[in-house]
Amino acid sequence: MKLADNKATLSFSNGSPSIDLPVYQGSVGPDVVDIRKLYAQTGMFTYDPGFMSTASCQSAITYIDGDKGELLYRGYPIEQLATQCDFMETCHLLLYGNLPDASAKAKFTSRVTHHTMVNEQMQFFLRGFRRDAHPMAILTGLVGALSAFYHDSTDISNPEHRDISAIRLIAKMPTLVAMAYKYSAGQPYMYPKNHLSYAGNFLHMMFATPCEDYVVNPVIEHALDRIFVLHADHEQNASTSTVRLCGSSGTNPFAAIAAGVACLWGPAHGGANEACLTMLEDIQKMGGIAKVGHFMEQVKDKNSGVKLMGFGHRVYKNYDPRAKLMQETCKEVLAALGLENDPLFKLAMALEKIALEDDYFVSRKLYPNVDFYSGIVQRAIGIPVSLFTAIFALARTVGWIAQLNEMIGDPEYKIGRPRQLFTGSVERDVLPISQR
Ligand code: SDX
Repeated sequence: MKLADNKATLSFSNGSPSIDLPVYQGSVGPDVVDIRKLYAQTGMFTYDPGFMSTASCQSAITYIDGDKGELLYRGYPIEQLATQCDFMETCHLLLYGNLPDASAKAKFTSRVTHHTMVNEQMQFFLRGFRRDAHPMAILTGLVGALSAFYHDSTDISNPEHRDISAIRLIAKMPTLVAMAYKYSAGQPYMYPKNHLSYAGNFLHMMFATPCEDYVVNPVIEHALDRIFVLHADHEQNASTSTVRLCGSSGTNPFAAIAAGVACLWGPAHGGANEACLTMLEDIQKMGGIAKVGHFMEQVKDKNSGVKLMGFGHRVYKNYDPRAKLMQETCKEVLAALGLENDPLFKLAMALEKIALEDDYFVSRKLYPNVDFYSGIVQRAIGIPVSLFTAIFALARTVGWIAQLNEMIGDPEYKIGRPRQLFTGSVERDVLPISQR
């Protein structure tokens, strides 16, 4: 970042001395007012719950222009990456800052492939869960448990430890998600197959059984790979900020990523894809497209607490570019599977059309986000609804670990420790219980 010619002057109407605050510029996007010395100079904090106007860090990984609906991974538009690159190239880009050439891609892919197995002891953690445990409960536990197996590489101040942990996490997430699925289905776990692609391996571990050969459907393999690319990173979203804050204490990368998994689970964040599909199924049960108007009235009634899941975004005040690409992937997969008339897809398209013409949504700049169509395509692939967010976590792991490694690699980083505006009781004395 570079110091801008501009500076901010903070003055107070009560006559307190005004102060000058430096303004910094990035390569693109809003400038920042540096308030690091504000408390020392004024004895005051800033107040920004939800971080609506706060840059928590500087980063060179992902940039979003919410007004234009643009998303760049290391400067490359998501539309180009999702159509011209695959997930392994995207992982290399996010981790190391550049798209690999053929040789570097082969080497990186081989490193990931040869770390896809998990320690055999991992399966005993699953046995502690009920078979109907939510996959995100299982995944939160399994990812945290990984830190018990790699004492040789949990020193995050060591760049080599950071790199091998990144490879292990990217490699093992599909295996863990598939194990969570097999456990809930009561089927045996399937080991990774090193000749398969990253997405193909995941499909194999999910849907193959020891009883017969499983052939990966290339259309589904390609669609899943694109879903991974679209979910890979997204600036300082809630779960990435969680990973950064957790990692800033110096804890190991597996524990920090487990915190990210836990945060992503929420329905306002990564859990929205599961909630969105459940919403579509509920509307379908109510009567489908004929009932959309009634449903939309509920959404617009603040007291109903009903939200149009898969719509709206803290940053995008235009169409989420990922939603457009996800809709295209939806159409491709449904056509390939002969499901062009999938009622939920038609319902989603009808909902989107109505929302994009309704002043309630237009005035609030509410557009479909990445979660609106992702559930429909995952359901068409045969992935159970309860696993959607786990697949989001699988894909986002590379973004989380790239952001964590970027933070730890910055010699200026400190442990994150926000302050507060205290509104509770001022000091008072304890009375004996007989006098309370
Ligand atoms: C993800 O941050 C990221 O980058 C996240 C993510 C990533 O890749 O990491 O993009 C992934 O989490 C996408 C978002 C998935 N969540 C959902 O689809 C859940 C539904 N969306 C909402 O909960 C909401 O839109 C949020 C949480 C996504 C954003 O909320 P904000 O920024 O806090 O905005 P807000 O709640 O203040 O909404 C502004 C207004 C409010 O109305 P008013 O008070 O102004 O009258 O819009 C309304 C909200 O009530 N509103 C909605 C709505 N979303 C916002 N009304 C109906 N349906 C919705 N979906």
